[in-house]
Amino acid sequence: MRIIFATNNPNKLAEMRHALGDRFELLSLEDIGFSGEIPETGRTLEANALQKANFIFNKYRQPVFADDTGLEVNALHGAPGVDTAHYSGSRDPKANMAKLLSALEGSADRSAVFRTVIAYVTPSNREFFTGEVFGSITEHMRGSEGFGYDPVFLPQGSDLTFAEMGIEAKREMNHRVRALEKMVARLKEIS
Ligand code: IMP
Repeated sequence: MRIIFATNNPNKLAEMRHALGDRFELLSLEDIGFSGEIPETGRTLEANALQKANFIFNKYRQPVFADDTGLEVNALHGAPGVDTAHYSGSRDPKANMAKLLSALEGSADRSAVFRTVIAYVTPSNREFFTGEVFGSITEHMRGSEGFGYDPVFLPQGSDLTFAEMGIEAKREMNHRVRALEKMVARLKEIS
């Protein structure tokens, strides 16, 4: 089965292809020849994921999914949440992490959750799948692998941040893959 994944993020594509195995062929936006911007103006992860999936579905009329991820920090009442990608006003991961560390300075509660929502759209169906990883925000950036907030996110039960544990270990347990696994289970049920 062929499914479009509405992204050009190479990290996400590799991660999702690995998790899907041979059963599904994942096409990126580049694979289908789409190079424009996809609007992302929602105020929830669900709204953004659906907006991205619908946008591509309306152009290509093939099964498509899109994801949206937020880092929700309890002491910050769920921020940065839907604004995770541009929390500092830019998309620069270092600036975003610096803002987060400074917002949490002196806070005893550093608990947080990475949450991904996948919206899956076909001609006859539209479904959402959510994946979460609970953890906490470190005091300093640690590690150099991965992307985004990986150097400051310590998953529950681990001594290593996502950026320290290596790509393989992160693949096994991240929020996006957890959402994808739910989607795959559903696809197996209906296909
Ligand atoms: P997106 O909705 O997947 O683009 O994610 C929004 C933002 O969340 C990204 O720009 C990253 O800063 C951050 N993010 C998403 N997934 C991860 C991850 O696996 N590790 C670290 N940061 C992430």
